[in-house]
Amino acid sequence: MVAQTIFGPLKPLDTVDVHEHGRTLKKTLSWPHLVALGVGAIVGTGIYTLTGVGADRAGPAVILAFAIAGAVCACAALAYAELATLIPTSGSAYTYTYSVVGEAAAWVVGWSLILEYSLACSAVSVGWSAYLVGWLQSAGLSLPAALLAGPHAGGIINLPAVLVALSIAGLLIAGTRESATLNIVLVVIKLSALAAFVLIALPFFNADNIVPFMPYGFGSTVDADGTTRGVMAAAAIVFFAFYGFDAVATSAEECKRPGRDLTIGIIGSMALCTIIYMLVAIAAIGAVNHVAIAGSDEPLAYVLRVLGHPAAAWLIALAALVALPSVILVMMYGQSRIFFVMARDGLLPRKLSEVSPRTGSPILITAITGVLVAAVAGFFRLDEIAELANAGTLLAFIAVGACMMVLRKRAPDLPRVFRCPQPYLVGTLAILGCLYLLFSLPSATLVRFVGWNVIGIAVYLLYGRSRSMAAKNKPVVGI
Ligand code: ALA
Repeated sequence: MVAQTIFGPLKPLDTVDVHEHGRTLKKTLSWPHLVALGVGAIVGTGIYTLTGVGADRAGPAVILAFAIAGAVCACAALAYAELATLIPTSGSAYTYTYSVVGEAAAWVVGWSLILEYSLACSAVSVGWSAYLVGWLQSAGLSLPAALLAGPHAGGIINLPAVLVALSIAGLLIAGTRESATLNIVLVVIKLSALAAFVLIALPFFNADNIVPFMPYGFGSTVDADGTTRGVMAAAAIVFFAFYGFDAVATSAEECKRPGRDLTIGIIGSMALCTIIYMLVAIAAIGAVNHVAIAGSDEPLAYVLRVLGHPAAAWLIALAALVALPSVILVMMYGQSRIFFVMARDGLLPRKLSEVSPRTGSPILITAITGVLVAAVAGFFRLDEIAELANAGTLLAFIAVGACMMVLRKRAPDLPRVFRCPQPYLVGTLAILGCLYLLFSLPSATLVRFVGWNVIGIAVYLLYGRSRSMAAKNKPVVGI
């Protein structure tokens, strides 16, 4: 019989990587693809656009906000690496929770991962659209304003954001391998642009620009104008800039050597990005007053223009335009795989887990993901989308920290390819850090997050619970 907990059936650990014929993904990826997948998902709208929102929330201390969010993500990344190498199959936090805590808890985590991946794609599409508009304007071209923003900003639809999201979905439908290779090229472009930004802006560092360092204080509080401000409020939004490394874990089933490839992929991409972000934040805030940066939709290009480098500004915007879609690519890939696994487990319609024999990718679910992402990108506000994506991600990270510790206690002798150092300390720090960031989000975001979960639990009770494969399966080995 399937092992049961108060959270429903457990997915047995020794069969998580055994799948039916026709519902198995091809093993086409190795570690350079994974580092590129990680960096491709991590470096995006967070650093290119939300640096401005962070400056608005924390002033110069947005630098500190990046450090706090990075430290929390580093703890989560270590826990992820241990679980991803121990349970190398698609589904990441959802699958870990299914094997360690139980099906109902896994459903809640999977439902949160939908927020993370889908809304991150939507947010990056909106950030991309802002760079496109700025770039075209600096070239003397302008498009009809009604087609460049959703109703919240007086427009009808953010058409560029919709189009970029749909195009990426098309690319993924064409096959994983091609997409991952293109991703490597895009990653090189956006890292080169950030390096150029640091080299140009850092020599303009002026200590006056970082004084006072924390004009809005440390904790997250609501200002007279209704905006949530403080270093933690900024950390809760720039947290967006750091995740994506977990998308690497969702590709475990497609790795040639999961143990080695995932360890290098997750830890390597996370470490690289943290260093780059700190340099970019110091260079931007040190060069130009934070109030001016806060008002820009394309802050990095803006800083370079203010510093008298319009050509460099034009080029960095071009790099963002060419390269930000790689984030959408990786996150949408992750999303379609999460849906795929949930459908394969019977919690979503099974039809969604069919893989194309020609490309090896799940076509139907990728198309559905693309349409949902495009719809959100077309009509909603960047900061609100990003904050809700963060809420979903934080819940998933909390689950990963908890699963890693529970499994250490319950099954200490399992062969772990990667062992998280100080697992109980790191796991606890990841959980507490994520909780602090979660409760630093604006209350409107938390209300939406609770609403999303109420819908999710209703779907589970009315649909998934009775159709789940684990509940129907006979042979099972617990852990
Ligand atoms: N970390 C990704 C970004 O900043 C989601 O765009």
